[in-house]
Amino acid sequence: MIIEPKTRGFICITSHPEGCEKSVLDQINYIKSKGEIQGPKNVLVIGASTGFGLASRITSAFGSKSATIGVFFEKPPAPGKTASSGWYNTAAFERIAHEDGLYAKSINGDAFSNEVKEQTIQLIKKDLGQIDMIIYSLASPVRTHPVTGVRHKSTLKPIGGTFTNKTVDFHTGEVKNISIEPCTQEDIENTIAVMGGEDWEMWINALKKENLLSDGFKTIAYSYIGPKLTEAVYRKGTIGKAKDHLEKTAFTITDSLKDINGKAFVSVNKALVTQSSSAIPVIPLYISLLYKVMKEKGVQEGCIAQIHRLYTERLFLDEVPTDSEGRIRIDDLEMRADIQEEVAQLWEQASTETLPSIGDLEGYKDEFFNLFGFHYDEIDYSLDTEEMVDIPGLQ
Ligand code: NAI
Ligand code: NA
Repeated sequence: MIIEPKTRGFICITSHPEGCEKSVLDQINYIKSKGEIQGPKNVLVIGASTGFGLASRITSAFGSKSATIGVFFEKPPAPGKTASSGWYNTAAFERIAHEDGLYAKSINGDAFSNEVKEQTIQLIKKDLGQIDMIIYSLASPVRTHPVTGVRHKSTLKPIGGTFTNKTVDFHTGEVKNISIEPCTQEDIENTIAVMGGEDWEMWINALKKENLLSDGFKTIAYSYIGPKLTEAVYRKGTIGKAKDHLEKTAFTITDSLKDINGKAFVSVNKALVTQSSSAIPVIPLYISLLYKVMKEKGVQEGCIAQIHRLYTERLFLDEVPTDSEGRIRIDDLEMRADIQEEVAQLWEQASTETLPSIGDLEGYKDEFFNLFGFHYDEIDYSLDTEEMVDIPGLQ
């Protein structure tokens, strides 16, 4: 079929298999061009199909020849209907990994459930024996709790007072004010239940109980801090409470891994265009200004460059460098004082009229559509494309 982008609200509901393959191939080539990494050998990536999780899977496999198991929640294709982009990304990743002789298998289902954990345990027992690293990179709006059965919904709201600021609809380029009403105590608890550390800890406990974690095991989850501009709705809002919880959970997990010399880390990553971040109010305007400044200064990084730097300059050093809270920081370039000052100045000037020149709105849009395999010059989107693509190692 001929596949074109179709957007609904913030998301794109179609995706292009060849475009997704290109985005995966670009990331693989980036990692291959950087040479071998002394990294993990048997890796489980939870949230492996897009964004930082996919970049972590690619870096593990093509940087340090890891065997990888990927867990994700993606929509398979149906005749005349495209799969979600994470499906096509994984199909491309596994095909190329297998051609290179690498072990790569995947599980598509709800990572929060007992069933998917059990299925993963069985697969590790059968194929790998033990795992030496788990990357936890889920971003989800909902979680059904495996013990209580309660379906928690996360929110992106300020705490204590109404938040009013600028935002952009990046599809139309319109900059306008939005106001977000403060959350309730329940919103905070629900957001922590979805995006906090409880499920991460459940995964580690489940695998440890079965003796599936090797000596010196590492696990890492991703967090975000960001600037003053977004603080009320991000780091000091409901999602920030969940990130506080996630960061605290790293210490709890580390305590539980003492007998196998294991350690849990949180890495604070840079703001990037992903399916998740596009849905957060205010963040797209911030990112379009940030990209402009970082590109001008020659320090812009995408997911794959971020994770490559995480592996080579942080996580696998003898001494892992962290901040005073014990967190790894790869948001250092985003948070540089000169960059933040410029973004704050541009923020003041940002309007529908000025944004195309003072911000990287086009770059934002291209990256957004790239997530779904669109806006690549190399691909002729007028041609017929096979939508029924299989993931070779899907369980
Ligand atoms: P993403 O939306 O690209 O990836 C989310 C992944 O989770 C996908 O693989 C998806 O299939 C999977 N997933 C979602 N619900 C699932 C479920 N119930 N069961 C199994 N898999 C499920 O998101 P992104 O942006 O890569 O986020 C990953 C982590 O990085 C999050 O913790 C996020 O807060 C963090 N982060 C993101 C930043 C950004 O600017 N995008 C910046 C810093 C941290
Ligand atoms: Na991810």
